[in-house]
Formats: sequence, C-alpha cells, structure tokens
Amino acid sequence: MACSYRFLDAISNPNYRKAIMPIEPTLMELKGVGFTYPTGLTPALANVDLAIYEGEFVGLIGPTGSGKSTLVQLLNGLLQPTEGIVLYRNRPIGREISGVELRREVGVVFQFPETQLFEPTVFDDVAFGPKNLGLSRREIERRVFKALEAVGLGFEEFAHRSPFSLSGGEMRRAAIAGVLAMEPKMLVLDEPTCGLDARGRNELLEMLATLNSAGLTVILVTHNMDEVARLAMRLVVLDDGRIVLDGPPATVFSQADRITEMGLDLPATSVLLRRLRERGIEVPTELFEISSTCEAIVDALRRRA
Ligand SMILES: Nc1ncnc2c1ncn2[C@@H]1O[C@H](COP(=O)(O)OP(=O)(O)OP(=O)(O)O)[C@@H](O)[C@H]1O
Ligand SMILES: [Mg+2]
Repeated sequence: MACSYRFLDAISNPNYRKAIMPIEPTLMELKGVGFTYPTGLTPALANVDLAIYEGEFVGLIGPTGSGKSTLVQLLNGLLQPTEGIVLYRNRPIGREISGVELRREVGVVFQFPETQLFEPTVFDDVAFGPKNLGLSRREIERRVFKALEAVGLGFEEFAHRSPFSLSGGEMRRAAIAGVLAMEPKMLVLDEPTCGLDARGRNELLEMLATLNSAGLTVILVTHNMDEVARLAMRLVVLDDGRIVLDGPPATVFSQADRITEMGLDLPATSVLLRRLRERGIEVPTELFEISSTCEAIVDALRRRA
C-alpha cells in the first residue's frame, strides 16, 4: 500500500475519496521501484511507491528530467525496474503477467503518437492492434468504429482516408484511437496536447474526461498545470526521480512555494487568486475553473462594497 498520508488526504477531502478509498480495487502498484538506465550515472527513478486505483484520473507532473516518461514506460512493461516491483492487479509484471499481456490492459500514448501512423488508411491503422489479437473481422470493425467515434473522428468520414491526409490534430486522434481499439483498462498519455491549438487541446481533454467517466483509468503526463488542475482528481508530483507530493489538486497547489521552487507553474487561476489575497481581497486560493474563480472574486468584492 502507498504512503499512509494519502489516505489521510482522502478522509479530509470528499472529492478525493472516489480516487483513493481502498474500496476501489488497486489496478497498478509500484513498490520500492527504482530505475537506472544502462548508461545513466544516477537513477532516473528512486524509491517510488505508488498505487493507482481503478477509475482514477491521475495527473503526473514534474520538471523536465524528473522521471515522468520513465515511469510511463514502467507502467506498461516497456522498461523493467532495476529495483522493486510493479504489480498489475496484484500480479507482478514479468513473473505472473507478461509484457505482452500487460500492454493489452495498459495503453500508452507516447509523445507525438502521430509519427507512428503507417497504414494506408485510418481504418487499417486503428485496426492494427486488434488484428494482432486475432479477433474476428466483425469484432475488429466494432472496435475501430467505437474507437474512432470516441476520439471524435466519424467512421464514415475518416475510416477510409489516408492518415497522412489528416490535419495534425486529427492524426493525433487517429493514433489515440489505435490505442483505444485495444480496449485497455488504463490509458497513459505522455504530453498528449503538446503542439495542439487551444481547440484541439480542449477537445482532447474533454475526450479524456468522457472516457474516464465511462470507467477508464487515465494517467495524464503534462507540463500544463491548468489542464491537470481542472481534470485530474489526484496529482502525483515527481522531482529528481522521487514522488514528492501526491494528493488532490487543491492540496498539491496549496504548496505553492514548493511547486514554484521545482520550476513548475501554478494554475493561472491560483496565481490570480493569490495575488488578490496579497492585495487584501478575501478569496479562496485553490479554484481551477474560470467560472467558479469568477464567482468567488465577485462575491469577495461584493462583501467589501
Ligand atoms: N534512454 C535513456 N538513457 C539514459 N538516460 C535517460 C534515458 N531516457 C531518459 N534518461 C534520463 O532519465 C531521467 C528522467 O528522464 P525522463 O525522460 O523520464 O524525464 P521526464 O520527466 O519525462 O522529462 P520531460 O518533462 O523533459 O519529458 C533524465 O535524467 C534523463 O536524462
Ligand atoms: Mg518526458
């Protein structure tokens, strides 16, 4: 089990309860995990204890080089820890569950996944994984249809186009559909919004929220604090290969000095609310939605008037 203070957080914050109460089965657990690259002089990850519970939406944040992408590769068995163990549904990876089996359960969307599109049509690209599972034609078609619809690419319009005729944002969605077509239990995305415009970013994030509401466990790696503050129920913060904070966004971002010392941003709403408080305006500091932030400011100003 992960550190006990995480469970104290759960008790004090009702929004966090869904994320980490032990009634939700543990999907993935890292126990005393360390990882040093063969050419690495220092560990990329050290002493990582982390439990991911079914249905969670976890934001994984941390400065450049803190070990986020290394952790992502440990979660789907592409890398094996050099210390400790990783378990999927209590089965140690590499012993009771193979990497191949694990990758059916844990889908990973790497940075710029569109660079991995290669089939002549979007259909073939999305169908690539399911075909390798040896599924029937009918089941493959069902999965491709469902995955394309989930990422907002209508089957009729997109399935028979060349992936290379799509826009950058559409290509990225087609690549994500390929991962979803494997029907994973957990989806891990490494900076999926990088390089997208505001609309592309918002649509992708909305899609992740919808998938999570439907039961998919989501882990989102990002440098965008506004994104994770709004979406994630829990944030795990890595610094220099170690987990330094783990809790709901409001708790994590209440440690403003620690976050900024690491070189990370605070969400824009937190910065604004903190500045207003410094100016003597009594607003809460940990709101992440524009509408609730606006309401809180209007309320505070009305109280002053
Ligand atoms: N293939 C590799 N060989 C050797 N060292 C590596 C390799 N990949 C990463 N590292 C090192 O491991 C550490 C963690 O890297 P990682 O890519 O996991 O960081 P990150 O948090 O994903 O960073 P970023 O935000 O820049 O993507 C860094 O010190 C990095 O230099
Ligand atoms: Mg990375």
